[in-house]
Amino acid sequence: MESAYPSYYREPEIIKESIYTGGQALQKAPQIEGVPTGIEGLDELFFTIKEKDGMLKKAPLGGMPKYSVCNITGVSDTGKSLMAEQFAVEQARKGQKVAFITVETPANFVVASIKYRALAMGYDFSEFEDNIILIDAASFSKLRENLPDLLSTLAYAIKTYKIDFTIIDSITGLFENKEMMARAIVRRVFNFMKKWYQTALFVSQKRSGHEELSAEAAGGYAVGHIVDGTMVLAKELITSQYQARIYKAQIGDLIRLFRIDGCRMCGHDTKTHFMEITDTGIVKIKEPIGG
Ligand SMILES: Nc1ncnc2c1ncn2[C@@H]1O[C@H](COP(=O)(O)OP(=O)(O)OP(=O)(O)O)[C@@H](O)[C@H]1O
Ligand SMILES: [Mg+2]
Repeated sequence: MESAYPSYYREPEIIKESIYTGGQALQKAPQIEGVPTGIEGLDELFFTIKEKDGMLKKAPLGGMPKYSVCNITGVSDTGKSLMAEQFAVEQARKGQKVAFITVETPANFVVASIKYRALAMGYDFSEFEDNIILIDAASFSKLRENLPDLLSTLAYAIKTYKIDFTIIDSITGLFENKEMMARAIVRRVFNFMKKWYQTALFVSQKRSGHEELSAEAAGGYAVGHIVDGTMVLAKELITSQYQARIYKAQIGDLIRLFRIDGCRMCGHDTKTHFMEITDTGIVKIKEPIGG
């Protein structure tokens, strides 16, 4: 029989599998727990609300929420890669498997940096080096330029190595020269992380033109709204007495700042904190500015 509609029209389909009662959905809901990050001062900034004797109480989570996908954003040289590497080392040394997708720097350089990070954290990298599975999208342009290739490769690695943690440094590198695709790309990668129950960190580069402590990543507006949470890193050169006073610093000092800009899966500290990168390249989150 001739269809009454043009060829691209099809009868609407009822997707019954997409409908859950609250109870059915709850059975699939993960328990919220914290994943210690290996970054001093960060784990205490996440909390949850627990019920005790019919009262709701704030309870520390002890890390970033498991199964969350968080952005780390900031302009260049703010410590994003250092944080991502520290997180990777912390999971790997506990026996967890971590996929480290490197988009900017070839895998052999990244692993040298991760090894150094482990040493600075006081660990012998050789004891857990194979817990880090590098996927080199810097050297293999197909992975960088064709998202289905990247996600299939990652799915293969997750199945082969039983990976629970994924790091992408950087997600912005996946939409270089095609920034109008930013949201679509981030959305697809985010959905992939959820499907595979990954706890994930995406490094997002920020253009220096953006306001320093805003969460806006390069690649268009609202990329941050797709992920579960964003951590913003910033650096500021002290050039005025006013800045020197509010940051308790000297003119000419470089100060580093850190802030959690929203986390959908749990409560979190909202203050702007001082941040330190030690001489050996270890990131530490310090006290809030203004005490
Ligand atoms: N091994 C190290 N020892 C001491 N300091 C380091 C070390 N590695 C990096 N740093 C310092 O930390 C800063 C931040 O480095 P990092 O590579 O994490 O920046 P990033 O935010 O990833 O930048 P980009 O966007 O350019 O990749 C460097 O500029 C440097 O000052
Ligand atoms: Mg970097």
